[in-house]
Amino acid sequence: MTNVAELHELRKIYQMGTNEVHALNGIELSVATGEFVAIMGASGSGKSTLLNVLGCLDKPTSGVYLLDGHRVDQMDDEQLAAIRRTRLGFVFQSFNLLHRSTSLENVELPMVYLGIPRRERIRRARAALETVGLAQRLDHMPTQLSGGQQQRVALARAFVTEPKLLLADEPTGNLDSRTSAEVLELLTRLQREGNITMIMVTHDPDIAAFAHRVVILHDGQVVYNRPSPSCGGPEIPHIKTIGLPAEPAPVPAATQAPQEAA
Ligand SMILES: Nc1ncnc2c1ncn2[C@@H]1O[C@H](COP(=O)(O)OP(=O)(O)OP(=O)(O)O)[C@@H](O)[C@H]1O
Ligand SMILES: [Mg+2]
Repeated sequence: MTNVAELHELRKIYQMGTNEVHALNGIELSVATGEFVAIMGASGSGKSTLLNVLGCLDKPTSGVYLLDGHRVDQMDDEQLAAIRRTRLGFVFQSFNLLHRSTSLENVELPMVYLGIPRRERIRRARAALETVGLAQRLDHMPTQLSGGQQQRVALARAFVTEPKLLLADEPTGNLDSRTSAEVLELLTRLQREGNITMIMVTHDPDIAAFAHRVVILHDGQVVYNRPSPSCGGPEIPHIKTIGLPAEPAPVPAATQAPQEAA
């Protein structure tokens, strides 16, 4: 299996006056084609920073980022924008739909940027909205939709361009638990059926359990990298029990040892 994303020694340092914030501190991570990886970690551990770098929304300070075989860490803004349009899909906690546009127009939008002709756009946007169960809501504005429906429009928008890599930052964070479960089931079905590689940030171990693999960050480093319980891995450790050093060190339980720090 080839890797869609590979990170080596990846660092992101924010300069705050005379202080440096090491948000990503030498990340090593490979994500295989078709894999679904959950990223966990305490607040401030670097999850969003990592997702922004993976999503080419932000550039690393140093290190290597290979996306689909391309060295994106060395690209300029224009090249990164092209990579975002052609290879990446995004789902955010706050849905990020255009409020003055209908469901259909929202799903069409990424295809406008790709220069896909209008008829083809409409055909694909309708099909995508049908897939997420919103065939009857094509002309609704986001404010005329429930939270779960808005997130389903956002899923249709993310999948309609058939991205190589789909990035989701707390995609169910604004939904109640029942709607969350529905959206998550849909997300995993689309991921599986489209064989799309997905990286999702979540605080919730029940949600991370849907993934194939769980990666935990601590102070900008990968301190845990194991199959999820549904894929034969150990129970996901409590975030608070995970800490540096990442090397074999005294940790409370054997299953909580951050064995694969890479
Ligand atoms: N633009 C910025 N400038 C300076 N420091 C930043 C910036 N963005 C993030 N940081 C710092 O980098 C670290 C990682 O932040 P990040 O947003 O990636 O955390 P997170 O794991 O997503 O947290 P949360 O779970 O609260 O969303 C934090 O210490 C944060 O204060
Ligand atoms: Mg965050």
